[in-house]
Amino acid sequence: MSRMSYEQTGVAMTCRSYDEYVRMFDLKDADLRNGEVLDVAAGGSSFTAEANGRGIPAMAVDPRYEGNAALWISEAAREIDDSTKKLAKIAQVFDWSYYGTLEKHREGREASLRRFEADASGNFGLHRYVAGRLPELPFDDNRFSLLLCSHFMFLYAGQFGPDFHLQSVIELMRICRPGGQIRIYPLISLNWEPYPELDALLEAVRANGGKPELLPTRLPFIPESDYFLQISL
Ligand SMILES: C[S@@+](CC[C@H](N)C(=O)[O-])C[C@H]1O[C@@H](n2cnc3c(N)ncnc32)[C@H](O)[C@@H]1O
Repeated sequence: MSRMSYEQTGVAMTCRSYDEYVRMFDLKDADLRNGEVLDVAAGGSSFTAEANGRGIPAMAVDPRYEGNAALWISEAAREIDDSTKKLAKIAQVFDWSYYGTLEKHREGREASLRRFEADASGNFGLHRYVAGRLPELPFDDNRFSLLLCSHFMFLYAGQFGPDFHLQSVIELMRICRPGGQIRIYPLISLNWEPYPELDALLEAVRANGGKPELLPTRLPFIPESDYFLQISL
């Protein structure tokens, strides 16, 4: 494995699309139409906007939603520029079979951010985009049928310790209803190192009544990052 890594200080606000989520988490229509869906650490993703546009009742939670919407949207737009420059320096490490080129990757992010902006600053914004921060989320027990967490939990393993991850996963299990699922991707850090505490975390999930599985993602891009974590309750 290369010694290169994706340079990042703090947690970025990125904006992946509905299609990226569907592929990342191998989502089937039945997974999405089984009750309420929550995008955790949603950032500027258009998943929630597009899901609702398809009649799927989805919400998003992120600490950034505390502030003014115009601020998060301009931050997410700057992040597209920054990440494009960073990716250009290490482009050869990634699998471009889904995105095609760096320019198409950038265009996809811009389109996703426009959808997010229209939805988050529209009438539904206040109900769909909720300010909240792991490891404690402002939702009742057993509420959601599907919880998705893209590019937050283990990606920033260096900034948050194993206690944070354990508490956060237990919190996601609290707000997931019996019969529901939690899906988390990726399971590696920004240095593309596998999350070192995964076995202990999976043991704790089992001890709390969850069934963890590693399942193949359909979003090729990050090196050696072929699986997402699914927890069934
Ligand atoms: C890299 S972005 C991912 C956005 C989106 N899920 C995507 O895949 O494009 C990470 C997000 O995690 C959010 N975040 C940071 N700390 C958090 C916490 N303690 N709990 C939940 N989300 C957090 C950030 O505000 C940021 O929007």
